[in-house]
This record gives sequence, C-alpha cells and structure tokens, in this order.
Amino acid sequence: MRLALTFLLCFLAVCHGQQAGNETEEYHSPLTWENDGSIVSGSVVIDANWRWIHSASYSENQTSCYDGVMWDTDLCPDADTCTENCAVEGIAQEEWDSIYGITASGSQLTLTYVTAGYSYIVGARVFLMADDDNYQIFNLLDKEFSFDVDTSNLPCGLNGALYFVAMDEDGGSSNYSTNTAGAKYGIGYCNAQCPHDVKFIAGKTNSEGWVGFETFDTYAIGGNLGACCPEIDIWDANSMAQTYTAHVCSVDGYTPCTGIDCGDDDDRHNGVCDKDGCDFASYRVGQTDFYGSGLTIDSNSTITVITQFITDDSGELSEIRRIYQQNGQTIQNAPVNFPGDVDEYDSITEDYCVDIKRYFGDTNDFDEKGGMSAMSDALSKGMVLAMSLLDDPYANMLWLDSTYPVDSTAPGALRGPCDTSSGDPDEIQSEFPNSTVTFSNIKLGPIQSYDINYDY
Ligand SMILES: *[C@@H]1O[C@H](CO)[C@@H](O)[C@H](O)[C@H]1NC(C)=O
Ligand SMILES: *[C@@H]1O[C@H](CO)[C@@H](O)[C@H](O)[C@H]1NC(C)=O
Ligand SMILES: *[C@@H]1O[C@H](CO)[C@@H](O)[C@H](O)[C@H]1NC(C)=O
Ligand SMILES: *[C@@H]1O[C@H](CO)[C@@H](O)[C@H](O)[C@H]1NC(C)=O
Ligand SMILES: *[C@@H]1O[C@H](CO)[C@@H](O)[C@H](O)[C@H]1NC(C)=O
Repeated sequence: MRLALTFLLCFLAVCHGQQAGNETEEYHSPLTWENDGSIVSGSVVIDANWRWIHSASYSENQTSCYDGVMWDTDLCPDADTCTENCAVEGIAQEEWDSIYGITASGSQLTLTYVTAGYSYIVGARVFLMADDDNYQIFNLLDKEFSFDVDTSNLPCGLNGALYFVAMDEDGGSSNYSTNTAGAKYGIGYCNAQCPHDVKFIAGKTNSEGWVGFETFDTYAIGGNLGACCPEIDIWDANSMAQTYTAHVCSVDGYTPCTGIDCGDDDDRHNGVCDKDGCDFASYRVGQTDFYGSGLTIDSNSTITVITQFITDDSGELSEIRRIYQQNGQTIQNAPVNFPGDVDEYDSITEDYCVDIKRYFGDTNDFDEKGGMSAMSDALSKGMVLAMSLLDDPYANMLWLDSTYPVDSTAPGALRGPCDTSSGDPDEIQSEFPNSTVTFSNIKLGPIQSYDINYDY
C-alpha cells in the first residue's frame, strides 16, 4: 500500500527530479544592466552548488543529502536514486547577505569571500537572469561589453571573475526531464575546464564517484561527471594581476563528460575543451608595470573594463579587444612586450594565439579545438553571464598572479608579482576572509559605444 501510494504521488507530482525544495521561497537579487542604452531590470541567482541539498521527502528535521564533503550514502546509493531522493533548496532574500555575503543594489553587486556565522560559506558564483526561470542570454558578436570592477580588496590567491559560459538558457530543464529545478535554482553550470565539482549535471546528481576532501565545500574534487562548454573569461583578476581568455570546445553548448573527454590531468589536451585557452594577460606578456596598485591601470580604485568582439566582413569573430577607462581617461591595452620574438599584438586574434603559444612553448589547444572560428560559433549561439569570487585549492591561483609552474623560468611562466607560496586557501580564508569584489554598470552596446566622442 505504501509503495503504491508513493508511486502514485511521485507520478502526479513528478518527483523524479533534480527537484527544488519548498522550505524557502527562492529570491533573485535585482541587478540592473544596460542593453543598447536601455536599462534592463535583471536579477541574479546563486549557483546550485552553494545551496542546501536535502531529502525531498518531508520531515520536521530535514536530512542533508550533501554534508559539505560527501553525499549521504543512504539517500544517494547511486545517481538515479539520489536524484529522486534529494531536493535543492531556495535561498531567501535575507540569506543573500547574512549567509552568502552577497549584496546587490541598483547596478552594483558585491561578493564576499568568507561568510561565517550560521554556516561557513566560501566564495560565491551568481548568474544574470532574464526572468525567474531563464538566464539572460548574451549575443556578444559585433558588440562591446563593459562593466566596472573594484578589485582593491582582493589579495593574491583570489579571483573575482566575470565571464560568459554556454549554459542552457533554462539551466537544462527542457533538455533533461529530471531537472525540474532549472535556472531558477542556479542549475546547469558548465565551463571549459569541464568541472567535476558541479553537484547536478545533465539532470542528475553527480554523486557517483564523488571524492571530497575532509574540509569545506569548495574543496571537493567532485564526481564522475564533468560539465563542459565554451567559455570566454572577460575578467579573471585580483589586485595584483588580470587576464582575459577565450576557451573553445570541440562540442557545442552544454556537454556532460566522463573519462578522457573531461580532459583530466595527463589527458588535459585530449578532452573536448581547450582548458588552457588563448589568454591575454598583461603581466604574462611582459607588461609588468601595467596593472596593479598605483600602476597605469590602478587596481586600487574602480576600473571600467571594455571588451570588443570585433567581426570580419563575413560576420565571424576576428578580434577580442580590450580597452580600459579610469579617472576619465581611456587607456588602450598594453601590447606584448617581448622584443623581437613576437609581433606587437595588443588584442586576441588567431595570429596572436599562434604566436604567443609558440613563444611560450605552449601546445595550441585553442587552435586544435577550433580557435577563433569555434569561439565565433559559441558566441553566436549566446552565452550566460557568470560572476564569481573564488580561491583555488588546486593551484593556489598561481596561474593568475605568480610564477607557474612554480620553478619555471621559461617565457610565459611569470604571470604576476605574487609569491609562489601565496594563495593557499586555508591561509587566505583565515587572513583575508573579508575580501570582496564589486561589479557594477554592466553594459552591452555597439562597438565603440564607450567613446562618447565616437563618430558612427
Ligand atoms: C514540499 O512540501 C510538502 C509538504 O508541504 C512535502 O510533502 C513535499 O515532499 C515537499 N517537497 C520537497 C521537494 O521538499
Ligand atoms: C527535530 O529536532 C528538534 C531539535 O533537535 C527535536 O526537538 C525534534 O524532536 C526533532 N523532530 C523530529 C521529528 O525528529
Ligand atoms: C538543449 O540542448 C541543445 C543541444 O545542446 C541546445 O542547442 C539547446 O539550446 C538546449 N535547449 C535549451 C533550452 O537550452
Ligand atoms: C590606495 O587607496 C587608499 C585609500 O583609498 C590609499 O590610502 C592608498 O594610498 C592607495 N594606494 C596606492 C598605492 O595608491
Ligand atoms: C571580518 O569582518 C568581521 C565582521 O565584519 C569582523 O568581525 C572580523 O574581525 C573581520 N576579520 C578580519 C580578519 O578582518
């Protein structure tokens, strides 16, 4: 009788799901942005990975499906059962600041590194929404994207990032029938690293094969599945260094992976995505006095970061160009500074990627996976805007702000002024828990719209 009733209830209520819990009504924090000169009243949603995942069957004291390190073995003996047994919970308005350390006001969003109290939450990742059930899709080709950022409170080892990923508009709820929570609950994250630490992938919990460290959430290594998709990192930065990077994949859009396709460890270049990307990092290309506190681009105060997605006559992406504005000045990107060895590139183009990778002795996996043409395809299909503040348990963010590989003297190894011993997550969590990044004034418009004097 009980079994039959459960079956019937499940049938009616569609409870085979990557379902949403119903303890807390989901709140999306309002965030305005500008599209072709018009103000858009958007909002942001917190990524599902940061949420409480608990037993989907009601009880006064809910059992967690995930305890911060591992999945519960009773509720999650396998992914299908776990998916049926577990629900991802909503986040209330008052929890944004008190639990997650996220505040939004007008066009401005601030993320805090560690928020301790009722729980201990490290970092955050949010996505811009078009409405309550869909992410905002950005079409960046032949457009200019601009935002302001304050990185002054981000020490070595942290990354306050703003980037686009080819997530499904609805978070995967139409492509995966068991995913009933969807974008509304921040489901569907993917990127070009094919991350294994995403808790829900392709309509299921990623609980099979999950390995967690005996510490906090963000340290988890993850499960058997990875979530791959093309990515354009507009801004990976702290107060010491910054980079922008294009990553392509040989697959279209959101693609779950297992095994070699995920490109793990020694298979880095054998997966479906280009994990290295083609990056333009000022310090790494030899401009060591361009970006930082008190330098040409002064990370001690707010910076306007402009990125142009320039197309050729056939409408294909040909160049990704960076321009800065600060204190009323427009500052062009500093060119590559390696006398004689590499041409004077000052933006990402196919030729830049070929030359810089040759000079650095890096495999050109960007080209292998389709290069600018694949990036162009990915951009033309539209991408979702993500903003995050994270540390890096794998490489202490040394790839961004220090020397990496740590003992290398080869060209390209020097990426920033931070010490090779910096960036240990445990250390920065205790020393700089109150680190923040603030993003504001997100704008999309025609090329050159940043320039009020531009003659169209
Ligand atoms: C939602 O709440 C009802 C009781 O009000 C409960 O029966 C149901 O299982 C809950 N669903 C989830 C996913 O928590
Ligand atoms: C829930 O937890 C509270 C406090 O620990 C306890 O008093 C109560 O009996 C529990 N209820 C159930 C149904 O286990
Ligand atoms: C579903 O997946 C296909 C193939 O990846 C993709 O083209 C489509 O946009 C997805 N649907 C939604 C609603 O995102
Ligand atoms: C950074 O800003 C603070 C406060 O605005 C100021 O006291 C400090 O001198 C600045 N540092 C540099 C290197 O400009
Ligand atoms: C961080 O902020 C909290 C609350 O504002 C404060 O109590 C704490 O001392 C700060 N920690 C550090 C290391 O500055």
